[in-house]
Amino acid sequence: MKKIAILISGSGSNLGAIIDACDKNIISGEVSLVISNNPNAYGLKRASSKSIETIVLDHRKYKSREEFDNELEHILKRNNFDLIVLAGFMRILGEKITKKFNNKMINLHPSLLPLYPGLNTHEKVIKNNEKIHGISIHYVSNELDAGPLIAQGIIKIKGSDSVETVTERIHKIEHDLLPDVIKEICDEKIYFRDGNVQFSKDINTTNGIIVKKYNV
Ligand code: GRF
Repeated sequence: MKKIAILISGSGSNLGAIIDACDKNIISGEVSLVISNNPNAYGLKRASSKSIETIVLDHRKYKSREEFDNELEHILKRNNFDLIVLAGFMRILGEKITKKFNNKMINLHPSLLPLYPGLNTHEKVIKNNEKIHGISIHYVSNELDAGPLIAQGIIKIKGSDSVETVTERIHKIEHDLLPDVIKEICDEKIYFRDGNVQFSKDINTTNGIIVKKYNV
């Protein structure tokens, strides 16, 4: 049973999907800590309702990014997690902490990286009339939204799509692919070694990553 920490900033719908997959024994692991930088994050309530320990690290109470990162690093080290998942965690982490955990910290990002790192990805995709869009799950590096890719989920953008419909469609595929990737990591079928993501032979990859096309 792997020990998982989830970092959030908001609604925590992805956290909910991960907890569900653990409860159903799809993931051989348990979410043993949820950390939020936002004291009002709804995800904190989701965690508490499942009796999962929560910690709020309100970034506004720290003098610098380093102080925030150091406190976070301290908590994560103390608990010795197998996996740390940034699921809608809207803080940029610095080089020291990302180096420390680079083989066990993964991030969910709502775009097909390397396209559209950063914020407001759905707005940008629609504005640029992109035909496809999606999500990326990657190991974290010290560059924003740029660590080694594990998986991408792809949707087609429809003529009728708005930011709201894309947000909803993207959430659907996040709630499928993120628990899936976490399951494989907990089963040690995906791991990070020598600077590369490694997959066991029974996992289908395309150009070195998992690619899943969705019709949602
Ligand atoms: C997700 O769409 C994630 O990709 C983005 O923020 C959203 C978080 O959603 N970075 P939730 O908090 O898991 O509901």
